[in-house]
Amino acid sequence: MSEPIPILLDCDPGHDDAIALLLALASPELELLGVTTVAGNQTLEKTTANALRVLELVGRPDVPVAAGADRPLARELVVGAYVHGESGLEGPALPAPASRPVAQHAVDFLAERILTSARPVTLVPVGPLTNVALLLARHREAAANVERIVIMGGAIAEGNVTPAAEFNVYVDPEAAWRVFRSGVPVTMIGLDVTHKALMMPAHVERLRASGAVGRFVAELHDYFVRFHRETYGFEGAPIHDAVAVAQVLRPGLVETVHRHVDVDRESELCRGRTVVDLWRRTGKEPNADVGTDIDAPAFLELLCERIESLEPAK
Ligand code: RIB
Ligand code: CA
Repeated sequence: MSEPIPILLDCDPGHDDAIALLLALASPELELLGVTTVAGNQTLEKTTANALRVLELVGRPDVPVAAGADRPLARELVVGAYVHGESGLEGPALPAPASRPVAQHAVDFLAERILTSARPVTLVPVGPLTNVALLLARHREAAANVERIVIMGGAIAEGNVTPAAEFNVYVDPEAAWRVFRSGVPVTMIGLDVTHKALMMPAHVERLRASGAVGRFVAELHDYFVRFHRETYGFEGAPIHDAVAVAQVLRPGLVETVHRHVDVDRESELCRGRTVVDLWRRTGKEPNADVGTDIDAPAFLELLCERIESLEPAK
């Protein structure tokens, strides 16, 4: 096997963030250099505590967690309690974390990890892009050692938090706009792809029966699917953030097209809309590889198989 891909996961746990983190931990193809947290699904305090709780669940308090932005660059924070609950990880009973984040701010932590990595680092932001935008502004030199930024965010078609916008980009449109125009290679894993790869009851029951970690994921899903059942009539839930990690782990799982993406920061109606020039109408230079399709069975099999391989902390 070739050398593991060094990654940094920037997240706002959040049910699907937690599952994405478990997938990263369970995948020897990846070297998780650290986890950074951002306000999004819940407040920074809660998303940070949730990241620590998940790492402790699987006996990985060695993975450093650095807390980052507690609000978007230029807007008031909007949280996703209607999806993820008051704690941000409603559903399974998980003790409060025993460990604490590192003292370093996430933006400086990201810069240090990237600049000291012997091999270019893949950044996997799966929450609002505030920390990543600040990294590119305050530590521009780090961009030279970033292989790619694989985001979960945006959508070619419909939104989820509004008809126009996907939650991560809606929360911090200015940050997303900066990332897309940064010049760093970007892959956009949007709702068009994640909604095609739902974790269905058969997957959930397989995981529930597989052991403590699988049971934890099943209980996350039991809560998380509620919003998707009520809103879309789905039988299963999209594990959005895990698709971004899976694409790093197994490139090609998600089909992409190279297109120009802009972000609406002006209008209220379409705040945070990712405007994907799918049919190349603008003549603008493409700045992202945008997800258009996914091998859903292969993704779900990979996800279940990796979750099943995880053991709870002793
Ligand atoms: O719109 C889905 C995204 O918003 C996911 O990253 C989910 O965790 C929330 O952050
Ligand atoms: Ca997220």
